[in-house]
Amino acid sequence: MAFLKGKRAVIVGLASNRSIAWGIAQALRNEGAELAFSYQNSKLQGRVEKMAGELGSDIAAPMDVAEDHEINKFFKDLRKTWEEFDILVHSVAFAPSDQLEGRYLDSINREGFRVAHEISSYSLSALAKTARPMMSNRNGAILTMSYLGAVRALPSYNVMGPAKASLEASVRFLALDLGSEGIRVNAISAGPIRTLAASGVKGLRQMMKKTSEMSPLKRNVTIKDVGSAAAFLCSDLAAGVTGQVLYVDAGYNIVGMNFD
Ligand SMILES: NC(=O)c1ccc[n+]([C@@H]2O[C@H](COP(=O)([O-])OP(=O)(O)OC[C@H]3O[C@@H](n4cnc5c(N)ncnc54)[C@H](O)[C@@H]3O)[C@@H](O)[C@H]2O)c1
Repeated sequence: MAFLKGKRAVIVGLASNRSIAWGIAQALRNEGAELAFSYQNSKLQGRVEKMAGELGSDIAAPMDVAEDHEINKFFKDLRKTWEEFDILVHSVAFAPSDQLEGRYLDSINREGFRVAHEISSYSLSALAKTARPMMSNRNGAILTMSYLGAVRALPSYNVMGPAKASLEASVRFLALDLGSEGIRVNAISAGPIRTLAASGVKGLRQMMKKTSEMSPLKRNVTIKDVGSAAAFLCSDLAAGVTGQVLYVDAGYNIVGMNFD
């Protein structure tokens, strides 16, 4: 049964075939959803258009989430093709590279904090605000991507931890605000996966090694694992679920200690 048949989904955050957004887009498509994509800038245009085509979509347009006018233009233009849509996937994060290495206090500064929070957290609310008229009263679902650094301190992740904490709080406030319009808002907290963004975090290799050693499932997760969970959360199968953070991390977050 294709449980997303008849649903339309906007995917924000596709950069490569390693992107979590790619795993999500594939899973949504497999379940019958129609897809539209944004790309951050012209450098990504060709690649995103090609990947969109592979999933039967001819909708791909630019949107830098740092720019309100680009967000407005994306949804205004989309409206010419889709009057309304059902699913918004936000799979976007950024911090300047000097923020993601070394000790927390040595790396953090005002500008790094501002950029990380604006791009990785505020952008979810900015997209929700603009997309809202197109998603209201049709059992809509908004999904974003978080990481364990939102709730636990760990090396190198630094300012992205507070930014993800802000993102997860935004999920709860958006869920409360949009529930009356039938829009659910959730996050997936994924385990480490080698993507372009994750490669910017110093120590990714060690993070992945620890996860595979310590997690109950004794492995790292894949974009397919995340995509499958995303398809569920964005579907009517999850009609009673909102404001939640679902861990797709091979169970790493629940472990207090192990003797392996
Ligand atoms: N890879 C991991 O280990 C991991 C784990 C947990 C959560 N996440 C989260 O998953 C999400 C997707 O990251 P990914 O790992 O797939 O990496 P990725 O590099 O494939 O995707 C990051 C995306 O963010 C986009 N982006 C950055 N700044 C932008 C801007 N100003 N405007 C528009 N788009 C912008 C990039 O274009 C890219 O498409 C992020 O929120 C990340 O924090 C990743």
